[in-house]
Amino acid sequence: MSHYLLGVTGASGAVYAARTLFYLQKAGHFVSLLITDAGKEVADYEGQTAALLKADEILDVENFFASCASGSSAFAGMAVVPCSMGTLGKMANGIADNLLTRAADVCLKERRKLVVVPREMPYNLIHLKNMEQLTLAGAIVIPASPHFYAKPQTIEDLADTVVAKILNHLNVPNTIVPEWGSKG
Ligand SMILES: Cc1cc2nc3c(=O)[nH]c(=O)nc-3n(C[C@H](O)[C@H](O)[C@H](O)COP(=O)(O)O)c2cc1C
Repeated sequence: MSHYLLGVTGASGAVYAARTLFYLQKAGHFVSLLITDAGKEVADYEGQTAALLKADEILDVENFFASCASGSSAFAGMAVVPCSMGTLGKMANGIADNLLTRAADVCLKERRKLVVVPREMPYNLIHLKNMEQLTLAGAIVIPASPHFYAKPQTIEDLADTVVAKILNHLNVPNTIVPEWGSKG
């Protein structure tokens, strides 16, 4: 069992967070939820609050005394999903002004997995530069761009095409989307 951090912001797409949480827990991992105020509002608006409250631990994003604010905390990695352009900009520029952005900063400085799932359209140059900067610093940017070739039947199926990629990059084996070309 590993410990993962799930950062949730006020970008649209709370279902991606809920499905990531579901699969991390299904794989036996302990998940701490770090959700911004805007994240709470948007998740509620999108009907995902109950699913997110199933996290093993819900951390106060204003509490810098939480263990994940320190590099000595042994969590395995973090996904920020969905990631707003505001939080993306902060993470790309070292602005650790809440526990979510501080924990992301810890991931980068400790060379741990940081998966960032931005959701916006279109991107302006600042968004793109921030994604470049985050990538150079070691984060994996996985856009919330679902695919359709697995013939998803529900919104959850569609979201899972992105979640499978998030899990892969967090080193969590899964068979959500069969490997392309496999017989399964
Ligand atoms: C319904 C709704 C949907 C939103 N969707 C997005 C989005 O997809 N991407 C984004 O960058 N901001 C989006 N926003 C704006 C963010 O919530 C806002 O910039 C907020 O300050 C982000 O704060 P946070 O990064 O601390 O969560 C949305 C806001 C609302 C109310």
